[in-house]
Amino acid sequence: MAALAQESIWFNKSQCDDAERMYFEKLSGAKRSAPVEDDSAHSAADKPASKPDKKEKKKAGSSKKETKPVEKVWSNKADCDDAETKLQERLAQPEYRNPANGECTFIMLKPDAVHRGLVGTIISRFESRGFKLLAAKFMRASKPLLETHYSDLAKKGFFPELIRYMGSGPVVPMVWQGLNAVKQGRVMLGATNPKDSAPGTIRGDFCVDVGRNIIHGSDSVESAEKEIKLWFTQQEISSWRSSQTEWVYEEEELKGSLAEQLHKTRSQVGGPESLSAQIARARQHIKNSLECVDGLVANVDEDEMALASKLSALELENKQLKKVTDDLKSLILRLEGRVTSLEGGKAPAAKPAAEDDDDDVDLFGSDDDNEEVDAEKARITAERLKAYAEKKSKKPALIAKTSVLFDVKPWDDETDLDKMLECCKSIQMDGLVWGASKKVPIGYGIEKLQVMCIVEDEKVSIEELGEKIEEFEDYVQSVDVAAMNKI
Ligand code: RTP
Ligand code: MG
Repeated sequence: MAALAQESIWFNKSQCDDAERMYFEKLSGAKRSAPVEDDSAHSAADKPASKPDKKEKKKAGSSKKETKPVEKVWSNKADCDDAETKLQERLAQPEYRNPANGECTFIMLKPDAVHRGLVGTIISRFESRGFKLLAAKFMRASKPLLETHYSDLAKKGFFPELIRYMGSGPVVPMVWQGLNAVKQGRVMLGATNPKDSAPGTIRGDFCVDVGRNIIHGSDSVESAEKEIKLWFTQQEISSWRSSQTEWVYEEEELKGSLAEQLHKTRSQVGGPESLSAQIARARQHIKNSLECVDGLVANVDEDEMALASKLSALELENKQLKKVTDDLKSLILRLEGRVTSLEGGKAPAAKPAAEDDDDDVDLFGSDDDNEEVDAEKARITAERLKAYAEKKSKKPALIAKTSVLFDVKPWDDETDLDKMLECCKSIQMDGLVWGASKKVPIGYGIEKLQVMCIVEDEKVSIEELGEKIEEFEDYVQSVDVAAMNKI
C-alpha cells in the first residue's frame, strides 16, 4: 500500500493553495492580490480537506506580522472579513445533512479507457450526474494489488488474463460519493458484457468486448468499503462540501432553506409530534373550551337559582304570615263579638264550635268583674297564640328535593353515550330518582350527555353523586351540574 501511495500523482501544496484561493474568491467575489502562506492547513494529515480554524489562522497571521512587512492581501478589509465569515460558515456545514447522500463507491478506469482517451469523458459522466469526486489517482497497479482486488474471481478461467490486462497499463482508481452511489454507479456502467449493456451506459456506449470493458464499479456497499480501503489511504480521500450540493439535493439547502426551517420548527416543538400527543393536545383543547362554556352557563344558572330560591322563600313566608294574620283576624272578630255581647248584657249570639274548649272560662261574670275579664281575655289570647305556634312547629316538615341536570362529558367522539347513560343510571341510592336524558352536540363531532335526576336533599349529596358518575372513567371524562332547582 505504501508503494501504491508513492506511485500516485496528487495535488502538490501550491496547487492546493491555488484551489483554496480560487474557492475564497468564488465565495466572496473579492480578489486576493497574493496568496497567503498557511502551513497549518496541511499539517493535520488526517483531515486533508479541513481548513485551519480561526485561532490557527490568527496565530499564523500574527507571527507573519512580526517577521514580514504587512502585505495587502485583499482589496479591502470588509471584503476580507466577509469572505472569511462566509467561508467559515460554509465549512462549518456538515458535508451532507442527509447521510444517505454520503454513500461512496469505488470506480476504476481500466487500462483500455486510458489508452482510448476516455478518462475525461467518463469522469465527466459522473460529475454531470451529480456525484462528487473524493479521491482519484493515475497509477500502474501491481499484480498483488490486482489479485487482491479480484480475489473472488481467482478460480475463474479468465482470471490470469484479467490480471494481465489490468496490469498492462495505467488505471485511474477513484472514489465517488452521492445518493445510492454504489447502485447508481453500476447502472451507469451497464452490464459486465458490453454486448448486453444498454445504450446510454458507459459500457454500452464505449465498448464491445467483455475482456475490454473499460471500467470497474463496486457491486455492493460492503465491496465498496473494502475496495476503497484497498486502493486509498485515509489521507488520500478528501472530505469536502461541493458548492453544487444544494443544487443536486433538495434537502441539502443551506441557511433559510425549507429543510432548515422544518428542522428548526421540529426542534422547537421537540421533534415530530406523535399522533397520540396530538390527540391529547386536542382533547385538552376541547376540555378547556367546555370548561369555559360551563363557566358561563354556571354563572347564569347561579344567578337564576339564587333569585328563584329567594322568591320561593318569600312566597312561603308570605303564605305563613297570611295564615297567622287570618287566624288573628278571626280570633279578634270572635273576641270582639263576645265583648260586645258581654257589654250589652246579652248572651253571645252563637258559640263558635272552635270555642268549646273555652267553656271553663267564666265569661258571664258580673260588671264588677270587668277588670278580671280583661285580664282573662289577654291570658286566653296569649294561650291561643302559644297553642297556634306549637301546632305550627309540630307540623311535619316538607321533604326538600332538588332537581339536578348533570352534564356528562365523554373522552371523544368514539365514546358510547348509551353505555355511559347505562352506567350513570346504574347508580341507585335511597332518595335518588333518575329522569330524562339527551345527547347534546358540543363541537368537533363530539356529543355530551345531559341526564336529569331528582334527589332528596337530606339523603343524597349531589357532589358525591357527580363523583360516582366520574368513576366510570372508561366513558366519562368529567361531570358538571348544568342546572339545579329546588322542588
Ligand atoms: P468489474 O468487477 O470489473 O466491475 O466487472 P463486473 O463486476 O461487472 O464483473 P465481474 O464478474 O466482477 O468480472 C470482473 C471482470 O472480469 C472480466 N470478465 N471477463 N472473459 C470473460 O468471460 C469475463 N468475464 C468477466 C471483465 O473485465 C469483468 O469486468
Ligand atoms: Mg466485479
